[in-house]
Amino acid sequence: MTNETDRRVALVTGGAGALGATIGARLAADGSDVVLVDVDAEGVERAAARLRAGTGRRVEGWVADVSDVDSVRRTISRLRDEFGRLDQLVNNAAVNRRADLASVGQQDWELVMRVNLWGPAVLCQAAVELWQAAGTGRVVNISSRTWLSGGPLAYTSSKAGLVGLTRALALELAPLGVTVNAVAPSMVVTPFTRQGRSEDEFAEFLARHQRMTPIQRLATPEDVANAVAFFASEQAAFITGEVLHVCGGAQLAPAP
Ligand SMILES: NC(=O)c1ccc[n+]([C@@H]2O[C@H](COP(=O)([O-])OP(=O)(O)OC[C@H]3O[C@@H](n4cnc5c(N)ncnc54)[C@H](O)[C@@H]3O)[C@@H](O)[C@H]2O)c1
Repeated sequence: MTNETDRRVALVTGGAGALGATIGARLAADGSDVVLVDVDAEGVERAAARLRAGTGRRVEGWVADVSDVDSVRRTISRLRDEFGRLDQLVNNAAVNRRADLASVGQQDWELVMRVNLWGPAVLCQAAVELWQAAGTGRVVNISSRTWLSGGPLAYTSSKAGLVGLTRALALELAPLGVTVNAVAPSMVVTPFTRQGRSEDEFAEFLARHQRMTPIQRLATPEDVANAVAFFASEQAAFITGEVLHVCGGAQLAPAP
C-alpha cells in the first residue's frame, strides 16, 4: 500500500488524445494517480477506463476546457477536494489551425492562443495554492519542434510562446519548489497530424518527416511519455526552465 509520502497525483490535459493518454498511462505505471481532462467527454472517459484497467491506479476522466478560466478553476478545486494535491501537471491539450499569414483570421488565432498558451498559464495560476501548501510540484508543458523549426503560423507562435511561458514560470515558481520544463516532440502519427490531409498528402508528409530525421524514424507517443516522465520525476528535481527535444535529432537542421 502506498503511504501519504509516496502518493503522487498527476493531471494531464488533452487526456483523450493519443499523446495525453500515453503520458497518463506512463505516469500511472510510475505510481501516480491520474486525472485526465479533455473537452471530449466520451473520449476522456474511454481513455480513463483503459488506464484504470491497465494500471490498477486511481484514474479519473474529467471534462474541462483549458481555455476557460471558470472550467479550469472548477477542475483544480475538484482536484483539491477529491485528491488534496497536484504533484504533476502536464499541459498537453492543444489545437492546430493550418492557416498561413495570408489567410489567418483573428478567430482561429485567438482559439489557438487560448487553448495552447492561456490554458497552461491559467492552470498554473489555479494550482499555485496547492503547490504552496505542498512545497513541491512538477509542470511539464508539451511544446513542439515547430517552436524552433517554424510551422503553421498560429500553432508555431503558440508553441514558441509556451517555451517562453515555461522559462518565465520556472523563475516564478522555483521558490515554491515547483519545476517547469517543456518537451518539444517532432511529428507523431496521431489524429492531430492526420487532420485535414488526404491519404496521399499524409503519406508524403510522413516520408518527408522521416527523411529529415537523423535517427530515421518518426517519434512515438512512448518517446514523448518517457521525456515527460523524467521531468515529472524526483530525478529531475534540480532541472527547471529547460526544453527537451524528442525529435531524433531533427531539431539540429542538418545540411540537406
Ligand atoms: N502529434 C504530433 O505530431 C505532435 C508533435 C509535436 C507536439 N505535439 C503536441 O502534443 C500534444 C498532444 O497532441 P496529440 O497529437 O495527442 O493531439 P490530439 O488532438 O490527439 O489530442 C489533443 C487533445 O486535446 C483536447 N483539447 C483540445 N482543446 C481542448 C481544450 N480547450 N480543453 C481541453 N482539452 C482540449 C482534444 O480534445 C484532444 O483530445 C499537443 O500539445 C500537440 O501540440 C503533437
